[in-house]
Amino acid sequence: MKRVLVTRDIPESGIVMLQEKYDVVVNREDIPMTKDEMISEFPKYDAVLTALSDTIDEEVMNAAPNVKIFANYAVGFNNFNVECAKSKNVAMTNTPDVLSDSTAETAWALLFAVSRRILEADRYVREGKWERFSHKLLLGQDVYEKTIGIVGAGRIGQRFAEKARGYHMKILYHNRERNLDFEKRFNATYVELDELYAESDFVSLHCPLTEETHHLVDADAFKKMKFTSIIINTSRGPVIDEQALVDALENNEIWGAGLDVYENEPEIHPELLKMDNVVLLPHLGSATSETRERMSQMCARNIIEVLEGREPINPVY
Ligand code: DGY
Repeated sequence: MKRVLVTRDIPESGIVMLQEKYDVVVNREDIPMTKDEMISEFPKYDAVLTALSDTIDEEVMNAAPNVKIFANYAVGFNNFNVECAKSKNVAMTNTPDVLSDSTAETAWALLFAVSRRILEADRYVREGKWERFSHKLLLGQDVYEKTIGIVGAGRIGQRFAEKARGYHMKILYHNRERNLDFEKRFNATYVELDELYAESDFVSLHCPLTEETHHLVDADAFKKMKFTSIIINTSRGPVIDEQALVDALENNEIWGAGLDVYENEPEIHPELLKMDNVVLLPHLGSATSETRERMSQMCARNIIEVLEGREPINPVY
């Protein structure tokens, strides 16, 4: 019987699909495997269902010659050495589409939480500070008819933009290349990053982490933004230079930030933890029960296809 390793604990539906056909081992402890553990364990398996916390590099792949597919339980696959997999003809898959709405909704939740100071207000009430209705209490910022700058016009960026239309927002976007369909569907205008930073009231990041997007939002970028602007990141932490973000917030170069991802997860810059105008989530972008079940099934389907000798459904290359 073929053997499948699931490196982290995930919702059951995909695991059940795999168990119907294969011998499946799940790391129920849910503690990320070390590189040494991956190197000693992976050789026993025909397929591995990986998580973002698993760096699948050349050394790991060399140690696992029987593995025919690494199925990532995520849409982002910056933890994969794709070129190496390609040269070895090992399949690598991800989970596109099924999490686009939940991730876009997380970005919107952050945007509203920061612009309307929801967490500060909640703390204010719980701490017993509220004595009377007051006209200047915890004033936030309007969202309606404001300008949103979307960096990354892929699937998640599109779902995010769709929701912005409901607020009659002016949509600016930047992408590796122009996306005419995006422009038409959302009445969006393609601009260079400098213009996007300067004109937007809110900037939301939806690009993958690559060499080009590493520290895409740096100290210079923050200096170009409006002092009233809010930045939202549900993509990958290293797209923002976190120290530059802290400096920008401390120097009032921007108004606030909503973050789901960080440069060195799960470590968070200690200064961010002290700031009231920053809302911090523990990487929850796709974290709804429905989405996480769909991701589980998608990984399982990809593994089944490859182990049965067919092409993967969601290859990353
Ligand atoms: C993804 O899918 O890339 C998320 O960041 C992890 O769930």
